[in-house]
Amino acid sequence: MNERPSIKAYLTQCAELTEASLKQSVPSAWDVPERLREAMQYSLEAGGKRLRPALVLTAAEAISGQISLDAAMPVASAVEFIHTYSLIHDDLPAMDDDDFRRGKPTNHKVFGEAMAILAGDALLTHAFHLVAQASRQGGIAAEVALAIVEDLAKLAGAPGMVGGQVADMLGEQGITSIAELEYIHLHKTSDLIVFSVTAGGRIGGATAKQLELLARYGRNIGLAFQIQDDILDLIGDEKKLGKKTNSDVEQNKVTYPFLIGIEESKAQVERLTQEAKSAVLKAELAAPERLLEIADYLVQRDH
Ligand code: IPE
Ligand code: IPE
Ligand code: MG
Ligand code: MG
Ligand code: MG
Repeated sequence: MNERPSIKAYLTQCAELTEASLKQSVPSAWDVPERLREAMQYSLEAGGKRLRPALVLTAAEAISGQISLDAAMPVASAVEFIHTYSLIHDDLPAMDDDDFRRGKPTNHKVFGEAMAILAGDALLTHAFHLVAQASRQGGIAAEVALAIVEDLAKLAGAPGMVGGQVADMLGEQGITSIAELEYIHLHKTSDLIVFSVTAGGRIGGATAKQLELLARYGRNIGLAFQIQDDILDLIGDEKKLGKKTNSDVEQNKVTYPFLIGIEESKAQVERLTQEAKSAVLKAELAAPERLLEIADYLVQRDH
């Protein structure tokens, strides 16, 4: 009998699939300035946990117990393109002004600010091309691809991740309330995670009710994930994280630990994880186990 891979091994497999796909996501036949291609690949291939693509793949498989990688992989790559662009821009001097990311100098440190901005723009734009490929090459119904495009535009855009980043930028210690901070975290981080699980759900053929419960799962693990990110910024290990700690302190950011302290922040992470799991359990999925395991795994993460 085959041993079922551990959650860690499972996530490594997902990351390997994602990395193989990221390498060839921008067609080599396209006439792209070489330096732009390099800047895009530099950040795409720098590593990272590849959590969002794993959530696309895992949610797709959870619905029926089966997965078409041809259909799910382009969308898994698309969300990593958006996430990677958001990190390049987040690190810029005008934003968090960070010098290290994923264990390497940030994009603007290597390619300069103008190229980093443009590499981010190109990654963002290409994500939508990739979603179209889920239909063209992966065979998902055009109607499903359309719904995924709509979700992505909204959840990554002004009412979603970008709106969250703006609220984060406008936040001020001593002024921003816990409710406002929740808004920031739900949008800057949860929204892309909600996108990942619901897009996977759509590809797997989820019902409207299942999509709603998957979104609730994403919202809760997303908020927990960002609170954990805030905690690790204070007490994490730079080597493991691949980015400098105390970035939030240096930028006078409003974070969960700043507002409610580390212990209460950890308790929130636990609470949100339980809520996320109970949403998945209500969804009557054919194979919910990996989604449940991912929620638990994220509580323990140190990077
Ligand atoms: C970092 O995301 C930015 C946040 C939204 C907290 P990750 O912690 O997923 O970063 P990588 O992809 O593993 O580098
Ligand atoms: C980043 O939040 C969120 C996005 C990039 C959308 P942070 O600024 O906390 O992320 P890190 O800590 O730099 O990875
Ligand atoms: Mg930031
Ligand atoms: Mg940052
Ligand atoms: Mg952070």
